[in-house]
Amino acid sequence: MRAIDDLKVATNDLQKDESFRLLVESVQDYAIFLLSPTGHIMTWNLGAERIKGYKADEIIGQHFSSFYTQDARESHWPERELEIAAREGRFQDEGWRVKKDATMFWASVTITALRGTEGRLRGFSKVTRDLTERRALEERTQQLNKELRNRMGQLIESRNQLELRTLELQRLSTKLMAIQDEERRRIARELHDDLGQELAALKMLIDLTALRTKGADISQVAESMDRAIAKIRNMSYQLHPPLLDESGLMPALHWLLEGFGKRSNLEVSLDFTPVAFPRFSKEIEISVFRIVQECVTNVCRHSGSRDARIDILQQPDRITIKIRDYGKGIAADMLTGALPVATGAGIGGMTERLKQLGGELKIAHAEPGMLVEAVVPLFSISHID
Ligand SMILES: Nc1ncnc2c1ncn2[C@@H]1O[C@H](COP(=O)(O)OP(=O)(O)O)[C@@H](O)[C@H]1O
Ligand SMILES: [Mg+2]
Repeated sequence: MRAIDDLKVATNDLQKDESFRLLVESVQDYAIFLLSPTGHIMTWNLGAERIKGYKADEIIGQHFSSFYTQDARESHWPERELEIAAREGRFQDEGWRVKKDATMFWASVTITALRGTEGRLRGFSKVTRDLTERRALEERTQQLNKELRNRMGQLIESRNQLELRTLELQRLSTKLMAIQDEERRRIARELHDDLGQELAALKMLIDLTALRTKGADISQVAESMDRAIAKIRNMSYQLHPPLLDESGLMPALHWLLEGFGKRSNLEVSLDFTPVAFPRFSKEIEISVFRIVQECVTNVCRHSGSRDARIDILQQPDRITIKIRDYGKGIAADMLTGALPVATGAGIGGMTERLKQLGGELKIAHAEPGMLVEAVVPLFSISHID
């Protein structure tokens, strides 16, 4: 019985060995083979043939350094690998290896020292995997990452450039508006002081001439002259009301609305809070004046409303201007983010002016009519008392 059992165990072991050999031989994705203690190839499997290109009978008996590049062979790197594996039990590496047809592939290599029960080195197992594709993928990923970083860099650079340009544009636009205000002031003064005075002198001359040349009817000339003088004065004040510099927003705006009332029958109520409205910097006063001027012009031109209401409220940190009319209201598409953006005119000009002062313009339907709300912050002002 015992002998039969022993035989069964031995057959089992044999079958296991055989199965194991078959298993290793049929593995296709790994080159698995045995090396002698000196590094000569002792076995070969399908994977080794597929990866390295040699048939078993071509390579068995050769030294495994034939898989290495000439440089590696000359520096005795293959032998070093065996030394390390023998000393540490195992050696792992990734690097270029050479196929039978002299092409290269990127290999992951594990060499394991095989020792008998007595500890004597009996050889090495070597498992090699072809990682060329993985390496190519990794390289491609790295390259793409690098490109991505470059593009990001370029994007950041363009954004910075854009911000700089925007700042420059804002600076220019501020300067332009200041120049425009100054120019209007100058033309207004010249119209009033030079041309106005000249006409007034001419009128006196005509009156004098009429006195001397009795009988001549100059009433038409005199009337036309008066109209010209009044027109020039009006133009000058519209361009830049001297009242604004002299006495501030309250009298200048009352004068403005009185003129509108006369010319267009528009009735506008104007209320200031506080009632004793203080003075502000030239920049803020001209901005508030221009905003009211533009809004009231719009009410006259576009709303169809007979009356309007203006409230100007000073709070510690801002001036809020509300202009309400009771006309047909603004078209819906102008309220959905499509406000005119052109600077220097109309709503676009007001928006730009306010932006430069750090404020904002809001336009809303008011059922009936339209409500414009402009906020002018006061943090940059200097009171003129
Ligand atoms: N009070 C208002 N009531 C109705 N529509 C208005 C009013 N104010 C402005 N709008 C509309 O908004 C448009 C843009 O106004 P604006 O920028 O001042 O330019 P402009 O007055 O030169 O047409 C006007 O053409 C008009 O259609
Ligand atoms: Mg307008």
